[in-house]
Parts: sequence; C-alpha cells; structure tokens
Amino acid sequence: MSDTTAHLKANSQDIEFPILKGTYGNPVIDITTLGKQGFYTIDPGFLATASCESKITFIDGGKGILLYRGYPIEQLAEDACFLEICYLLLHGELPNTQQYEKFTNTICQHMPIPKEIHCVLNAFKKDAHPMAMLMSLISALAGYYHGKMDINNPDDRLEAAYHLIAKIPTLAAMCYKHSCGEEIVLPQPELGYAENFMHMLQSTPHRNNNIKPVLAKAFDRIFTLHADHEQNASTSTVRLAGSTGTDPFASIVAGVAALWGPAHGGANEAALNMMREIGDESHINEYVDKAKDKNDPFRLMGFGHRVYKNYDPRAKVMRATCHEVLDEQGCHDDPLFKIALKLEKIALEDQYFIDKKLYPNVDFYSGITLNALGIPPNMFTVLFALARTVGWIAHWHEMLGSKDFRIGRPRQLYTGSAKRDFVKMADRK
Ligand code: CMC
Repeated sequence: MSDTTAHLKANSQDIEFPILKGTYGNPVIDITTLGKQGFYTIDPGFLATASCESKITFIDGGKGILLYRGYPIEQLAEDACFLEICYLLLHGELPNTQQYEKFTNTICQHMPIPKEIHCVLNAFKKDAHPMAMLMSLISALAGYYHGKMDINNPDDRLEAAYHLIAKIPTLAAMCYKHSCGEEIVLPQPELGYAENFMHMLQSTPHRNNNIKPVLAKAFDRIFTLHADHEQNASTSTVRLAGSTGTDPFASIVAGVAALWGPAHGGANEAALNMMREIGDESHINEYVDKAKDKNDPFRLMGFGHRVYKNYDPRAKVMRATCHEVLDEQGCHDDPLFKIALKLEKIALEDQYFIDKKLYPNVDFYSGITLNALGIPPNMFTVLFALARTVGWIAHWHEMLGSKDFRIGRPRQLYTGSAKRDFVKMADRK
C-alpha cells in the first residue's frame, strides 16, 4: 500500500518512487522501476535493502521484539509446542484441536527415511562434519522425490514442507549416530516431536532410553526459538535458490550450506568455547578488557547482533531454559553457567557495551544448554538446521505463492577492465 512518494534527483532527472508501509518497521522505497530509468542501486550486505515482502516473522531490533505471525516469541515459547509453531509458520494461524491432530498425524507418517538413503552415510568417515552429512542426506531426498511434486501447486508445496519437517529430526539423528559409530535408531512416531528426536539420539535399536519430560521440553523450546528469524543469510539463500524453480529439498540444502558458516549458525559453539577458555569467574574482567581493546580481535561471543540493539528476546528464554536443564541434570552449580551469568552482568554494566548497545544474543546461553543436554559441539549447527527447516520452507512456500514472484537476479557495479582485444600467448609479456 503506497501513501506517499520519494524523489531521486539524478542526472537532472526527477524520478518518483512509491513509499510502501508494512504493519511495522521502516517504510520501504519501491525502486523496482529505477532500472528502466538507467540506474541501479548498490547495497552490499543488504544493509538497507528489503529483498521481499513477507507476512511470516517480524523483528524490532531496537525494542528487542520477535513475532512469529504476530505472536511474541516469549508467549509461544511458554505456551505452544514446536509442532504448533510449525503449523503457525506454514499456515499463518495457530491450529485448532482438529487441525493440530491432522497435522501431527501427517508429520508422524512422513518421519521414516527411504531405506536407499541410509547408505548415503556410508560415504562419510565417522569424523566428517555432521553438517556435510546432513546436506548429502537432504540432497538424496531431492533425488528420491524429484518430479513427484509440482512446485506451482500449493498443496504439493505443503506436502514437500511436511516431508521436510517430519524427516529432518530423523536425518539429524542419523548423522549423530554415524559420527558415534552406532546403529541408526528408527523414529517412533507415537512419541512427541522432541521426544522422538531424543529417542533417535539416545536409544539403541535394543534399548529405549528413558526420556525426561523437562529435557524434552527444553529441546522443544530450543526448536521454537530457532524456527524462524525473517530474512537472515540462510533464509535469503533458500529464497534465492528456490526462485529459480529448483527442487524444494535442493533449496533447503542451500540453506543448510549458508547456515554452516561461523558468522551464522556456528556462534553458540564459539560462545561455549569462550566460557571454557575463561575457565574461572576471576578471569572474566580480563576477557571483557580484551573484548574492548581495539587492537585485539577478540569479541565476546554470544554478544551483539546486526538487528537487535536491545536484549535478544530469545536469549532471555534460553537463559531460563538453561536453568531448568541444569537443575534437572543436577548441575545447578555448573561453572560455565556461573561464568556466563557473571559475564553478562559485568558486560551489561560496562560503558563500552552500553554505548554500543551490545546485549546477549540467543547463542550466549544455547551452547551451555545444549552441552548440558549431552549434545556434542559439532551437532549444535545441525540442531539449528533442524529447527530452522520450517522457517526456510515457510518462506519458500510464501515466495512461490506470491503474485510478484520472479527469479532473484541482483545487478552489480562493474569495476573490471574496459573492453580490450585478446592477445595470443606467444605475444604476451
Ligand atoms: N564484543 C565486543 N565488541 C563488539 C562485539 C562483541 N561481541 N560485537 C560488536 N562489537 C563492537 C564492534 O567492535 C564495533 O565497534 P566499533 O564501532 O568501535 O568498530 C561495534 O560493536 C559494532 O559492531 P559490528 O561488528 O559493526 O556490528 P555488526 O552488526 O556488523 O555485527 C555481530 C554483529 C553479531 C557479527 C557482532 O556483534 C559479533 O561479532 N558478535 C559476536 C559473535 C556472535 O555472537 N554472533 C551471533 C549472532 S546471533 C546469530 C543469530 O541471530 O542467528
């Protein structure tokens, strides 16, 4: 909806653009027609460029607000389970009882992985990174289902989404078991989503592990907190790959690849390593001083965010979840958690962090929580991918259903050589 216009004066032309206003957030100048006027814009890193219109998730970084389909993350994390979140992100509304039952039944039916795909893991050494295994397994699904779905049909797109949401915990657990050199445990669909994941991680084909409800709730909440985060690097990658009309599973592989990078999915592992390196509360001030030193590349991991200039609302929920997990595991005196709490307090009272609006982000407490849940660090990003799959596929579905959807094809500012004639090798200096 356009209610006002912006003007650009360039080469004595006065070009007019509509200004679009969303439900929240900065107004957006629609420059779609600028190319026809002979100009492009440049914005490396998308610092001020919206890549699409979306109705799924909203972040107000200044106020520390995160909404899924309008619902605050704190309320969802407290009162909804992850499969309700999946339904909400995909369909736009929370499910009623009948819708929820139908949805969970569909997800349960789609959990098993075709037998042929299991042997893909045999191509990997046990010490290969599980993110590499995960990408290959999802690629194998692309091979298995390719051509069976019409991406222009919304029902087929939802079918692809159900396959992915249902199968991703099974695939993640398969990667883990392969890394441990253990036999794969098949899903037990009658368990809840998080319980089933714990079962596939912790049971063996001959012995069922006892699942503690507090820990299952913690996994479920971790999945909820990571389910979507609007146009981040991996989601934008899924949208760009999907905009070519490629297979949905292939689009998700692109997202997993983008997530693997340490600037995106890998920060919780770095935060956990930092707490370990600090080692004792008496060393905290030394590390805070290092983080403030311009000549030292060290940064407080799990602190600061491109969008949040306030407390990341996910971090507050994660801190409470961390408390619950440590209590349940009988580790309320966990030295890493104590270091984290004290480090947070010291940093939040320090003028450097106050001036730069640096607050704990979700990764500050998630590494300690996952560690207490028995997850090895190289699986942290796999769990992130598991949770984010619903966000990725919801964005893919939204994009393909949008009326002004077209292939993503950025322009560039070319600064290379001017046109010149080819020189044969013998004539080159
Ligand atoms: N420790 C110390 N100083 C910091 C930190 C930090 N963690 N983060 C930012 N700063 C300083 C930075 O040095 C810069 O100072 P100056 O203005 O004097 O040059 C200023 O704050 C702004 O930082 P920036 O790097 O320009 O900000 P950015 O928006 O480009 O980067 C960030 C955001 C998350 C990459 C950065 O805060 C950081 O490296 N944090 C540590 C890594 C981390 O926790 N990453 C997880 C992010 S949350 C993941 C998710 O949402 O999925």
